[in-house]
Amino acid sequence: MITNVDVVVGLAWGDEGKGKVTSHLTKTNDYDYVCRWAGGANAGHTVYVNDKEYKTHLIPSGIFHNVPSIIGPGCVVNKEKLYEELNYLHSNGFNIDNVKVSPRAHMVHSEHISVDKTEYKASLGTTSNGIAPCYADKAARKGVRASEVLPEKLLWDEKLEGNILCEGAQGVWLDLDWGNYPYVTSSTTLPYGACSLGIPPQAIKKIYGVAKVYDTRSGVDPMFPETLLEDKQLSALGKIGKEIGVTTGRRRKTQWLNLDYLIKSIQITGTTDLIINKYDILEEFGVYKLIYSKHLASFNSIKDMESFLSSRIEELCPMINSITFSRSPKEI
Ligand code: IMP
Ligand code: MG
Repeated sequence: MITNVDVVVGLAWGDEGKGKVTSHLTKTNDYDYVCRWAGGANAGHTVYVNDKEYKTHLIPSGIFHNVPSIIGPGCVVNKEKLYEELNYLHSNGFNIDNVKVSPRAHMVHSEHISVDKTEYKASLGTTSNGIAPCYADKAARKGVRASEVLPEKLLWDEKLEGNILCEGAQGVWLDLDWGNYPYVTSSTTLPYGACSLGIPPQAIKKIYGVAKVYDTRSGVDPMFPETLLEDKQLSALGKIGKEIGVTTGRRRKTQWLNLDYLIKSIQITGTTDLIINKYDILEEFGVYKLIYSKHLASFNSIKDMESFLSSRIEELCPMINSITFSRSPKEI
C-alpha cells in the first residue's frame, strides 16, 4: 500500500536546484522509491554526494542513496543516453540495479533527435534531445514503448508501496499548458503529473516547491530577450551563480526574481514547503532586487529582501508551511 507521497516541483523555468533538494530529502527521509514522472534527457540534475559533484539527466536522484529509482510512464527515454548514464553511475559505485523504467515510457529514437535539431532547435531553443518529436509520436499513437525495446530486467513491475518521493523535471513555466507556449517543453511539469505513476491524488502530502532567488532561462523565450546576456549587472550575477546549462552548456539568461510569477506558481502547484536556492550567490553579489507588481524593487540588504519575500508569500499563499532560504550548493 502507498502510505505517503511527497513531490518536488520546479517553480520557475527549470534549473532551480531540484536535484539537490531531492537528494537531500532522500538522504534524510525513509523513501522506498524515488520517481520521475515526465521529461527525458532534456533535464540536467547536479547533485553533491560526499562532497563530490555528479550530473545526471534521466535517472532520478534517489539512485545516489540506494533507493529504487523509477522512470515513469510519462517519461521519454533515449536508450543510448540511459545506458551511458547507467555506466556512469555504476563506475562511480552506485547500485544501478535500483533503476527501473516503466514499460509504458516512450522511446526517443535518432529520427526524433534529428527532427528536433532541424525543426525545433533554432526557433524554440530546445535541448535537441528529441523531446517534442517523441511526445508528438506518442500523442499520435505511433510511438514505441520501453516494453518493446528495453530488456526485462530494466523494466518496472508497476508496483509502488510505502513512502514515495516524486522528482519533477523542468518547472512550472516550461509546462506544456501553463508555460509561454510554444516556448515550453512537451510534458507536464506540474505536481498532478506525478499521478501518472499510478499514484492517487489524495496520497500526496507535501509539495516541495523549488525556486531560485533570481530567475534564469536557458533556451528561447520572448520573456527573456537575448539582450539580457549583454546586461552587465545581470550577466555578472549569472557568472557568479555559474548559470550555464548542465545539458546544453549554453549560458542561461539571468533576470531579477519575478515574485508575481513565483507567487502564481506556488499557488498552482499547491506548494507546502518552499525552498529558495542560491541565497549565497545574491549575498555575494551584493545587489538585492526583485520584480513585484510588475515593478522592479530594490532593497538595502538581503535581510530586507528576505522579509519582504516571506511576508508577501505568507500573505498570498496560505497553504505554505515553511520557507527555507538555502545558502549552499551542497545542502539545504
Ligand atoms: P525541450 O524540452 O528540449 O524540447 O526544450 C524546450 C524548452 O524547455 C527550451 O527552452 C529548453 O531550454 C527548456 N528546457 C527543457 N528542459 C530544461 C531543463 O531541464 N532546464 C531548463 N530548461 C529546460
Ligand atoms: Mg537543470
